[in-house]
Amino acid sequence: MEIINRRQRMSSVLRRVRREEEKTIGLVPTMGALHEGHLSLVREARQRCDVVVVSIFVNPTQFGANEDFTRYPRDLTRDTAMLADYNIDYIFAPPVEEIYPKNFSTYVTVEGLSEQLEGAVRPGHFRGVATVLAILFNIVRPDRVFFGQKDAQQTLVVKRLVRDLAFDTEVVVLPTAREETGLALSSRNAYLSEPERRTATALYHALRTAKAAYANGERSARRIAETVASEIANEPEIRLEYVSVTDAETLEKLDKLDDRTVLVALAAYIGKTRLIDNIVLSPVKHGARAMVEA
Ligand code: PAF
Repeated sequence: MEIINRRQRMSSVLRRVRREEEKTIGLVPTMGALHEGHLSLVREARQRCDVVVVSIFVNPTQFGANEDFTRYPRDLTRDTAMLADYNIDYIFAPPVEEIYPKNFSTYVTVEGLSEQLEGAVRPGHFRGVATVLAILFNIVRPDRVFFGQKDAQQTLVVKRLVRDLAFDTEVVVLPTAREETGLALSSRNAYLSEPERRTATALYHALRTAKAAYANGERSARRIAETVASEIANEPEIRLEYVSVTDAETLEKLDKLDDRTVLVALAAYIGKTRLIDNIVLSPVKHGARAMVEA
């Protein structure tokens, strides 16, 4: 495992791999503060690609002015130690100026998909995500890139980015990794105190309640959203920012769920910590009972 900080070196090492050895390259883009969710992506990348690159870069352009860019957890030594057991080939950990050189002025915007849900409350967030990913894709030129379903909207934005700009890469999305309590793994969980961590389990519990309502035949988007909101209202320490019930592919707002695959997504504050989570509901094509995946 080699740690590479310079984009030129990362590109040239991988160019050689591609030319001389005709190997497939997998990229797991991260902002570090690695947890089991990231490691599940790394394991899948290891299985499906010859050469695995994990990028670790806390991307300034995807943070709003009042967000947690400066206090975002950074510990490359710990992250490197965690990855040591996973037989990856390269960690790409560039400093900011390697990704955003002086006078950087080219940004990528995925219109429409970027403006809803997270994009509505974090304007510019997905412009930052799409921009850094376009840069990483150009440096690494991965055959496959790996993302977690926890950032559901991000996966849609990435798929659209890849299709629209003709990046020659396959976007692989893996299920949300959760604690036994159901809490979705997130680097931001590190901000939670123990009591807050217990409180935060109410988020997934609320999504499961929506899933149960759906399985019992509820098809009103408003009532599904209300179910989630009222479950969360039982926990006064949680401030729900939004819960949305949309088409899982287009993020179009829905009234009736009918036979669409639906994304129920939420963002909430526990103390100062902002967390997101989601669940996908999809009808079984044949038979009366609904099938639901997390
Ligand atoms: O999901 C993340 O950690 C980030 O948004 C990503 C994809 C690494 C881009 O900075």
